[in-house]
Amino acid sequence: MDKTLSITMCAMFLFISNFIKTQAKDCNIASYGGNPNGDITDALAKAWTDACTATEPSKVIVGPGTYTMNAMDIKGPCTAPSIELQVDGVIQAPANPASLKGADQWVRIGYVNGFTLSGTGTFDGQGPAAWKANDCAKNPKCNWPTMNFGFNFLNNSYIRGVTSKDSKNFHVNVLSCNNINFDGFNISAPGDSPNTDGIHIGRSNGVTVANTNIATGDDCVSLGDGNSNITVVNVTCGPGHGISVGSLGRYDNEAPVSNVNVKNCTISNTMNGVRIKTWPGTPGAITVTDMHFEDIIMNNVQNPVIIDQEYCPSNQCDKSSPSKIKISNVSFTNIQGTSQTQDGVVLICSSGVPCENVQLNNINLAFNGAEVTAKCLNVKPTVTGTAPTCAAA
Ligand SMILES: *[C@@H]1O[C@H](CO)[C@@H](O)[C@H](O)[C@H]1NC(C)=O
Ligand SMILES: *[C@@H]1O[C@H](CO)[C@@H](O)[C@H](O)[C@H]1NC(C)=O
Ligand SMILES: *[C@@H]1O[C@H](CO)[C@@H](O)[C@H](O)[C@H]1NC(C)=O
Ligand SMILES: *[C@@H]1O[C@H](CO)[C@@H](O)[C@H](O)[C@H]1NC(C)=O
Ligand SMILES: *[C@@H]1O[C@H](CO)[C@@H](O)[C@H](O)[C@H]1NC(C)=O
Ligand SMILES: *[C@@H]1O[C@H](CO)[C@@H](O)[C@H](O)[C@H]1NC(C)=O
Repeated sequence: MDKTLSITMCAMFLFISNFIKTQAKDCNIASYGGNPNGDITDALAKAWTDACTATEPSKVIVGPGTYTMNAMDIKGPCTAPSIELQVDGVIQAPANPASLKGADQWVRIGYVNGFTLSGTGTFDGQGPAAWKANDCAKNPKCNWPTMNFGFNFLNNSYIRGVTSKDSKNFHVNVLSCNNINFDGFNISAPGDSPNTDGIHIGRSNGVTVANTNIATGDDCVSLGDGNSNITVVNVTCGPGHGISVGSLGRYDNEAPVSNVNVKNCTISNTMNGVRIKTWPGTPGAITVTDMHFEDIIMNNVQNPVIIDQEYCPSNQCDKSSPSKIKISNVSFTNIQGTSQTQDGVVLICSSGVPCENVQLNNINLAFNGAEVTAKCLNVKPTVTGTAPTCAAA
């Protein structure tokens, strides 16, 4: 290449990259009065407003350090096609549940296209006081504590790297999102913390949860109604209650669930492994189809493989009429490890709408060193390779 030409090109490149840099904004909360060991609620809100109204993709930065923050409700739509929130510090919620003034979620982010949450930071919900006060298992009118995160109406978004710790309630609620990807987003809370579900997903299409460690006191990942195209891959779960589709059918305005793929997960010391649960005696009559569970290792799990269409916690339902939810095209493939109970495979389907096309492919689960048994009701699974033989439930 001619020397003058290459120098000209380099100058042009510098010019262009400088141009982009001056348009894109780094909005560090330190420039908005947010400092370590202080409260950053206002600083973060102001930095978000600046980044969200910038004409080029911009970034809100929370640097290393420990901060406190009250409930934060940040919203789009933003002007640029994307926006990032990078957190490298530790942000603590108020420990006293009342300080959050009844907010459903501590960090709520909504109505953004191209949102990224990144960094190596931790969102600490400071749950212990709320867990102690939680009487929701006994009291249907309990004060539902504040969740760590609400991701609502987001499109084409990434949540990666950061950790959600000790939420007062669910760690993450995903509602009405399209194409949202959780990657390397760890979640941790003690096994005995009540209702601290990891990621609950509802009414969303195209959600991936990948490369993530989830330790909680409730479901690691749970899928409500209206979900499609959901992938859970390379996830370790435990302690907790496992990976669950449902519960479904409790209400009559629910939307169908389709195409759920759970692959290469390790589930340890949990109540359930992989589960689909629906309520009997209720009006809900959606379809649940294309549920595939593959390459799952179970370590000491109470109910490793379970379809339960008679799900009825604390007898809050009428079991005299069957679930109206039609479950079809379900496969359990290469499921191995250990069960805490003899009935390692339980498939209890509805007598009104029996399950169709349920496959058991290479199920190798041991209870006390022997193969587990399978209990089946209103379902005739097809078997490939090894799998326990169905006995009537
Ligand atoms: C997200 O996508 C939905 C469906 O395409 C659209 O209606 C909505 O406006 C989008 N939201 C944003 C914030 O871009
Ligand atoms: C996520 O958890 C795993 C195992 O506990 C750990 O090795 C990894 O470093 C964690 N990642 C982050 C970003 O904290
Ligand atoms: C699921 O993904 C497929 C393939 O991308 C798409 O055609 C389908 O519309 C999606 N399902 C829903 C309910 O959006
Ligand atoms: C399965 O996931 C684990 C992490 O949980 C990862 O180390 C391993 O490489 C993955 N295996 C495959 C085949 O993707
Ligand atoms: C699962 O883990 C394997 C091995 O680390 C990696 O190659 C693969 O990309 C991961 N899958 C996803 C969807 O991240
Ligand atoms: C179930 O799978 C079969 C064969 O793969 C397919 O023909 C059928 O449409 C699927 N059922 C549903 C409800 O998706």
